[in-house]
Amino acid sequence: MSTMAVALVAVLGFLWVCLLSRKKTGVNYEKMDKQTLPDGAKLVTYQWNLPYSSGEIIRRLELLDEEDVVGCGGFGTVYKMVMDDGTAFAVKRIDLNRERRDKTFEKELEILGSIRHINLVNLRGYCRLSTAKLLIYDFMELGSLDSYLHGDAQEDQPLNWNARMKIALGSARGLAYLHHDCSPGIVHRDIKASNVLLDRCLEPRVSDFGLARLLVDNETHVTTVVAGTFGYLAPEYLQNGHSTEKSDVYSFGVLLLELVTGKRPTDSCFLSKGLNIVGWLNTLSGEHRLEEILDERSGDAEVEAVEGILDIAAMCTDADPGQRPSMGAVLKMLEEEILSPCLSELYYEQHLELCILTALPLSSF
Ligand SMILES: Nc1ncnc2c1ncn2[C@@H]1O[C@H](COP(=O)(O)OP(=O)(O)O)[C@@H](O)[C@H]1O
Ligand SMILES: [Mg+2]
Repeated sequence: MSTMAVALVAVLGFLWVCLLSRKKTGVNYEKMDKQTLPDGAKLVTYQWNLPYSSGEIIRRLELLDEEDVVGCGGFGTVYKMVMDDGTAFAVKRIDLNRERRDKTFEKELEILGSIRHINLVNLRGYCRLSTAKLLIYDFMELGSLDSYLHGDAQEDQPLNWNARMKIALGSARGLAYLHHDCSPGIVHRDIKASNVLLDRCLEPRVSDFGLARLLVDNETHVTTVVAGTFGYLAPEYLQNGHSTEKSDVYSFGVLLLELVTGKRPTDSCFLSKGLNIVGWLNTLSGEHRLEEILDERSGDAEVEAVEGILDIAAMCTDADPGQRPSMGAVLKMLEEEILSPCLSELYYEQHLELCILTALPLSSF
């Protein structure tokens, strides 16, 4: 009997130790997996670990070449990396001349790697090789909104009004999460159509936190260097280099205008008149020339719905940052506008239809 009791205590003790050690390896960013490998290479995988050996990841990274390039941006080249099990990741190769920002860069990455939201692109890992720094992200099959809105995809399967609204709503959710739910809040700084990526159901995900900076103690980050993309930048950010949540709201307003008009913020039709997209819209809206504003490829859109979105975009792009709504307020307005009871049925029907349609040509990606 006493032997049984001893055995029972031993088993319970063993289970207790197992439980404690499970807790220690719990998933959060402080417990991310860091490995220093031969040749001074370093591999860090965040929160949702990449379920591959470091050997396989490094081997795949080293095999990337020109054929795998999916795009090029201000920070370097983006590759598609396919693992042995067929899962794809996007790898962003950072230019080595940014080496001096190493320490803060890696610290910020730890925080960015901890952020998870359905409308944000997950940062899965970071690898420093002797020749490059590589960021590993989830791969988004449909690429960027920019290429979908202005590139070849637009010809094959134009984005209709409901799809555009779904993208506006999801992007607003991602951005509002960065501003209001991360602590400290994160200013994106480079909201633009090429930083809104689309999954196979056209669910948008805001990407590229390379330019984002953390707000410390509610103080606005100040920089003398303007990071961002021409056409999307708030006037005050252009003038004094102060980037705030409100300058993100401005860029988001420009994105809304881009979705409604199908025009890039640098389109020659208004630049040649000395206007930006905001000034151009203000002129046309004042004259009630809605038919010139709306992208004809977006199909049948209710006049009131278009006007509602233009009103929200106008608030976001107010020249005075103090007058702009917060991203939380923008999201609420969009939800009221887009998900009103009668529209929601249409929205979900369309959503289902788009998923079916977009699932077909995916094998070619
Ligand atoms: N996670 C990703 N999944 C799929 N494609 C991506 C991903 N990240 C970036 N891309 C593609 O690579 C291009 C270049 O990206 P990036 O370097 O961030 O520059 P930019 O945002 O200025 O376009 C993007 O426009 C997009 O087409
Ligand atoms: Mg980008």
